[in-house]
Amino acid sequence: MSGDNSLPCHVAIIMDGNGRWAKQRGLPRFEGHRAGAKNVRRVVKAFADCGVKYLTLFAFSTENWGRPQEEVTGLLHLLSQSIDEETQHFHQDNIKLMHIGKPDRLPLELRRKVEAAIALTKDNSRMTLCLAFDYGSRAEIVNAVRRIKEDDVSTGDIDEVVFSSYLGTQGIPDPDLLIRTGGEMRLSNFLLWQAAYSELYFTPVLWPDFGKKEIDKALLDYRQRQRRFGSL
Ligand code: FPP
Repeated sequence: MSGDNSLPCHVAIIMDGNGRWAKQRGLPRFEGHRAGAKNVRRVVKAFADCGVKYLTLFAFSTENWGRPQEEVTGLLHLLSQSIDEETQHFHQDNIKLMHIGKPDRLPLELRRKVEAAIALTKDNSRMTLCLAFDYGSRAEIVNAVRRIKEDDVSTGDIDEVVFSSYLGTQGIPDPDLLIRTGGEMRLSNFLLWQAAYSELYFTPVLWPDFGKKEIDKALLDYRQRQRRFGSL
């Protein structure tokens, strides 16, 4: 942890507002998600170009299964399609892909695609793109507790470092900057442990409209923050 905040090492984003973006245009909700998926490409490029080393995107929460079946299927399909279309580009751009969340509820074919994309890009080093899909922070924490117990870790050995190593984000630094688009001001069960000292940035801009100009604004705002991590 350092007080240097010229550039965040890890940016995490709650990509909200696809539905409203579509509604404003009189389009079906799915068109908002499609525009949102397209925006992922440009945002990944912009952050990689800035020199950010880790980007985590909240694409599908454990709670999103409760949306209408048609929307869930559409989102799963979009992820699958994006992996097909983007993996080679990410690989060429030296970007490593990671997944956090529960893999086992995803359709088998999608799971295989995710695994293949992760394997292909595992040695890339320019930026790590971590996709949170079927992710929920509380479930991640409960899962860590279960695994610590299964591993018989003795009570005295459990500290914050050990606990963190049982989370899906194991090995990646905590987010320095957490952005939520779409105007809501809550964390919605995203990276609750990891965001303990993240700088929070909320913008009313809807996700499909969150481009380079908005990214520059968020980074400028971040540079003006005083990060003290609890000390004076
Ligand atoms: C929130 O908008 C967004 C989501 C639940 C899904 C985010 C998904 C994408 C950006 C596309 C797929 C992602 C990848 C990585 C290919 P909302 O539907 O809650 O919007 P609303 O609040 O305006 O209704």
